[in-house]
Amino acid sequence: MKEMIKLSSIKKNYGDVKIIKDLNFTVYEGEFLTMLGPSGCGKTTTLRMIAGFEEPTSGEILLDEKPVGDLPPYKRKINTVFQNYALFPHLTVAQNIAFGLKMAKVPKPKRSLQVEKMLKLVQLEGYGNRKLDQLSGGQKQRIAIARALINHPQVLLLDEPLSALDLKLRKQMQLELKRLQRKLGITFVYVTHDQEEALMMSDRIAVMNKGHLEQIADPRTLYEKPKTCFVANFIGESNIFYGKVSEITKAGAKVTIENGYLSIQSKKPVSESQIVNIVIRPEKVKLSETEVAGFHIPATVAEHYYAGNMNKTVLRLPNGMALKMNTPGEQVLLPIGTSVFVYWELSDAILVETASDDVYNVVDNPDFSTVNQQS
Ligand SMILES: Nc1ncnc2c1ncn2[C@@H]1O[C@H](COP(=O)(O)OP(=O)(O)OP(=O)(O)O)[C@@H](O)[C@H]1O
Ligand SMILES: [Mg+2]
Repeated sequence: MKEMIKLSSIKKNYGDVKIIKDLNFTVYEGEFLTMLGPSGCGKTTTLRMIAGFEEPTSGEILLDEKPVGDLPPYKRKINTVFQNYALFPHLTVAQNIAFGLKMAKVPKPKRSLQVEKMLKLVQLEGYGNRKLDQLSGGQKQRIAIARALINHPQVLLLDEPLSALDLKLRKQMQLELKRLQRKLGITFVYVTHDQEEALMMSDRIAVMNKGHLEQIADPRTLYEKPKTCFVANFIGESNIFYGKVSEITKAGAKVTIENGYLSIQSKKPVSESQIVNIVIRPEKVKLSETEVAGFHIPATVAEHYYAGNMNKTVLRLPNGMALKMNTPGEQVLLPIGTSVFVYWELSDAILVETASDDVYNVVDNPDFSTVNQQS
């Protein structure tokens, strides 16, 4: 596969502040790659360096397998779609879309033909003569995308392009953007801090944290095999334990978690007594009213939340930790206060080799903020 963009040892400082710390990754031709990370982690800065609006403090960027050096933005076959559309308010829809071609001195008849094509592509045929203030947010965003695509860039950079839209429109535009990208085969580098959006749209996701790359992988790998606690917590919901490798057998490492309960067998290369983290997804947690054979932890049902398609239960463990469990919405719930046993398949627990201080303390803060409590 052709390497369309390659970042090698990229660092970026603003004054003394190290914003990007040694970033390395490759985007392949035709790929939909998403940079995902919390606010301030350096996503926009990275995009701006790829586009040529910022220079890296050190390191090298290759575009289409050639170093870009100090090639100015307009000489890179890259266009950018910004969060706030950045359209020209005094121009019509058609004039906005045609802007790049006009700058390139493409003759008017050819321009008009291209604009018609673009309007069709973004499903806005007949809107060419409209003024911008006669358009909805979603329509404006589609115009911005059409404008960025008209001169056939090799790469389209999209910086949170849908964040100004309401939820329903955002979902619709996610599908449309994905459809467009598939149809055109253009390399997309997409920025968002919405993990669901990233999972749905991307071929691969680069998870960033504080100016460095935590992990880059396809969505399923990120969810099922997070390399760090940060990734486990940022992509989907998780319960995270500290654990100590208590024994290494032929079957793999046995890990004892905080409360002294055996929790996992993993073939990852760890050594005896090593401190690790154990991640268990809420949908993998099981519950029984009677004691089960094998691994289990006593617990009490502490809280329930109803979320339509699922029930979210908080279970209190003997050490006070709140364990999150998600079950199908139609399942009958046990009354709050019921004593139960929780367990999971040992193969469902994920071992994270490098123990992190970034462990998210869920004891007092079971993060159910997005769920409405049923009264
Ligand atoms: N021109 C600048 N001068 C100094 N600091 C800057 C400059 N631009 C960005 N920063 C800082 O660099 C860090 C990364 O900013 P950046 O805009 O890349 O973050 P981001 O990941 O895009 O965040 P968000 O999700 O909020 O858009 C921030 O701490 C920001 O304050
Ligand atoms: Mg940003």
